[in-house]
Amino acid sequence: MKIGIIGLGFVGLSLTSVLSSKGYDVIGIDVDKEKREKIINGISPFFEPELENLLKKGLKKKLKISDDFSLIKDCDFIFVTVGTPQNTDGSINLSIIKKAVTTIGEILKRSKKKPIILVKSTVIPGTMRKNVLPILEKKSNKKAGKDFGLISNPEFLQESTAIKDTKFPHVIVLGGYETEFMKKAKKLFMKLHPNVPIIITNHQTAEMIKYANNSFLATKISFINQLSNICQKIPGANVDDIAKTIGLDPRIGKLFLSAGPGYGGSCLPKDMKALINFANTTGVNPTLLNAVEQINTKQLEQIISITKKKLGNLKSKRITILGTAFKPGTDDIRDSIAIELIKKLQKRKANITIHDPKSMKNTEKIFGDKIKYAKTIADAFSKSQCVIIMTQWKQYSKINNNNIKKMEKRIIIDSRRILAEKELVADYQAIGIGNNQ
Ligand code: UGA
Repeated sequence: MKIGIIGLGFVGLSLTSVLSSKGYDVIGIDVDKEKREKIINGISPFFEPELENLLKKGLKKKLKISDDFSLIKDCDFIFVTVGTPQNTDGSINLSIIKKAVTTIGEILKRSKKKPIILVKSTVIPGTMRKNVLPILEKKSNKKAGKDFGLISNPEFLQESTAIKDTKFPHVIVLGGYETEFMKKAKKLFMKLHPNVPIIITNHQTAEMIKYANNSFLATKISFINQLSNICQKIPGANVDDIAKTIGLDPRIGKLFLSAGPGYGGSCLPKDMKALINFANTTGVNPTLLNAVEQINTKQLEQIISITKKKLGNLKSKRITILGTAFKPGTDDIRDSIAIELIKKLQKRKANITIHDPKSMKNTEKIFGDKIKYAKTIADAFSKSQCVIIMTQWKQYSKINNNNIKKMEKRIIIDSRRILAEKELVADYQAIGIGNNQ
């Protein structure tokens, strides 16, 4: 059995590494030369725990990496894991996926195989039936369901646990028509993930499931962020105790109730915008989704207003940002709230120092020499007039009064409440904890 994987981002490369390390015959295709060269040499183009080890194992077995799409002509299963970025109006941009399936269609035309094409890329409902399927049939001159299989197979992995999630998914969704191809795909997933529930549905429902999942997670975050703002107005109230307690109610669940600076990353913000945009085109006014997004944007404004309240005019003030990655365990800064914060503080002419255990290089690509990069946490505190904790890296929980004493002004704004339990010699404000002013 041969497996082709098109697009080697977080989803594609994780799947490639997991399957090839198990000994499956895998061909990973990507158009980005720099990325390919790293992968061929066993280096992951991004930081993701465990990924490099599995990649190296796969390379020692049957894994091949190439930009040559024609290599997929002998594949039994072809996973499409290319990106679906957003247009400036928030709507989904399908150009990359359209290009990929056009090429797959052209290869199918010359091949005798009857492969199953599984689309993992996040696409708005209707894309498979209105775009992907017609392109494949036209370019291949073949019929879906007869000459090849086409299945929507949304992915739910999280960055920083991508390998674990790929190995042990909580659910498998297969969307499409009930054909022999569907039975074959189900068999493959039952073998890969015994005992994991498999939901078989149609394309449009599978597409919608992905948006339902991400928008519900975003809703939980905005819910707790709104409560956190209320808590801040009640002296002594603590949002974490509230989250912990309501999370014990099985109907609510404890995950994704950590208040903070708002959700970032390459998925939740983009998918929320795409779903809102899509809902509007259907004539449904997505009032709840709009509110979730608005609350998310307001979280950052709140951090800036606390900073201004504490420091006055921000011009020439030295402000340290701890954590630029959109969450711990990754070097990814795409749509990171911390990056937005730096840009906004720069507009107010503040001097910025940053520290992040993993994403310094990526941050430097954006800001160059316009900001300072502290090599250690101690350096980050030195001479600072205000430290803002943005990412809950474990390292930051070790911050102590010796660090704080190196500051020029001892102001700490903690958007993740990492230091909330400590006795600090600082003017300390945590998001989600009411102070006694
Ligand atoms: C998200 C989803 O969690 C995955 O299930 C999905 O597969 C993925 O998007 C995708 O569509 O590809 P990811 O982008 O890796 O995964 O990030 P999350 O772990 O969801 O975190 C997103 C943001 O929410 C981060 O900025 C994080 O700090 C924030 N967050 C998360 C909170 O502020 N509080 C929480 O309780 C949880």
